[in-house]
Amino acid sequence: MDQTMVARAQDRMLRELTEFLAIPSVSTLPSHAADCRRAAEWLRTEFTRLGCPVVTLIEGKGHPVVWAEGPEVAGAPTVLIYGHYDVQPPDPLDEWVTPPFEPTVREGRLYARGAADDKGQVYCLMKAYEAVRDASGMPPLNVRFIIEGEEECGGSVIYDLLRAEPGRTRADAVLVCDMSYYAPGWPAVYTALRGMCYAEIAVRTLERDLHSGSYGGVAPNAIETLVRILAGLKDERGEIRIPGLYDAVEPPDDAELSTWKRLPFDEAAFLEEEVTGKALTGLTRYSVLERVWALPTLEIHGIRGGFTGEGAKTVIPAQATAKVSLRLVPGLEYQTVSRWLEEAVAKLAPSWADVRVIPLHGGDPVQVDVRRPAFEVLDEAFLEVAGRRAVLVRAGGSIPIVPELGLAGAPVILTGIGLPDDGLHSPNEKLDLHQLWTGITIFARFFERLAATARPQG
Ligand code: BES
Ligand code: MN
Repeated sequence: MDQTMVARAQDRMLRELTEFLAIPSVSTLPSHAADCRRAAEWLRTEFTRLGCPVVTLIEGKGHPVVWAEGPEVAGAPTVLIYGHYDVQPPDPLDEWVTPPFEPTVREGRLYARGAADDKGQVYCLMKAYEAVRDASGMPPLNVRFIIEGEEECGGSVIYDLLRAEPGRTRADAVLVCDMSYYAPGWPAVYTALRGMCYAEIAVRTLERDLHSGSYGGVAPNAIETLVRILAGLKDERGEIRIPGLYDAVEPPDDAELSTWKRLPFDEAAFLEEEVTGKALTGLTRYSVLERVWALPTLEIHGIRGGFTGEGAKTVIPAQATAKVSLRLVPGLEYQTVSRWLEEAVAKLAPSWADVRVIPLHGGDPVQVDVRRPAFEVLDEAFLEVAGRRAVLVRAGGSIPIVPELGLAGAPVILTGIGLPDDGLHSPNEKLDLHQLWTGITIFARFFERLAATARPQG
């Protein structure tokens, strides 16, 4: 390919990806259910154009899973590619420089909700497959794509599918491309993901809202009750007050900790450029990387209740709810932690309040054995194209279905083409186009190299 051909292919690819990103497939908002389906349909069309003889939308109680199979290549290895077409809600809208579903390029970066998480990365793998197919006229290996629409909302369609048909995960390697480089120029492979326990805490103290003058000083306030409970769940130093939680954590071993110590990490730049606050908080006796990768968290995502409109209204709220979640590290299981959270909240609840914990969703943490041959194959591709082998890191985030993807015994490769400052779940999410273009070449080379190995024994 000469320069103009590359440029022309890039223009076309940018147009295609823009189309995909313009579909507001926000899985957690019921009002966007039709958009989620449109995104699934968009993928169906693209997989068909890619030459996949099998393309199906698998239905369940929620957004469909897109399943596509490339043409059968006898004797060649099979790679299963996982991704998700759903995105997080784009709010707060007024903080976007350009609207979240009007993808826009500025300074070599494509800004849109889902650009990095995960539509842009799904697209990258589709184009990598297209590239290897075009290079030899025939795909050199077997591919299966499993692209779900409920990763961001804790849905059940893909779980039900894999429980009913575990054979779908039979492959020589599973590739999950929903993460980022460790830093620009530093590709990464992940040895662990945190699990999650998401719940709502609902408080009712009165039958109805009351005048805060007539009853202020005597009537129990639901928001005050709620925030006292929340404050009781974590102390000022950042320690979560759930008995047994830290004792159950399996800490990283010395070898892993020393790998992390050798990674370049600029705490001041991390604070200023990514976190954008005035200080880092949490258990400061641990390093930042340990706090994000190897310790549990408890975060409050939002509080609803009382009067939040313009101006002033004097009222004692009768009810309030908070959305909270814990991130779980190895040693902590979702079901157990969910029960511990309920018990901790029950202990903190005053007798005159009706306090309920409503579990929303969750999943167990994941650890990956990266010593299997497929990892070396990817590493060679990173070295060849990005100029550096992958560093072994962990993810603070979660991908709930990952444990199930490995059930048939295939190595699960967790990696990605994002950059740490992509702003996942935040306003102005972006994907660096350089990452996309090199990513396509990296995974194309990965496919070619994998095809060239004798069918790896996992
Ligand atoms: N791509 C992320 C997971 C991720 C984030 C991995 C950062 C590594 C670093 C994924 O799409 C995601 O956001 N998952 C949710 C899952 C949750 C809703 C159960 C998450 O982590 O919040
Ligand atoms: Mn996400």
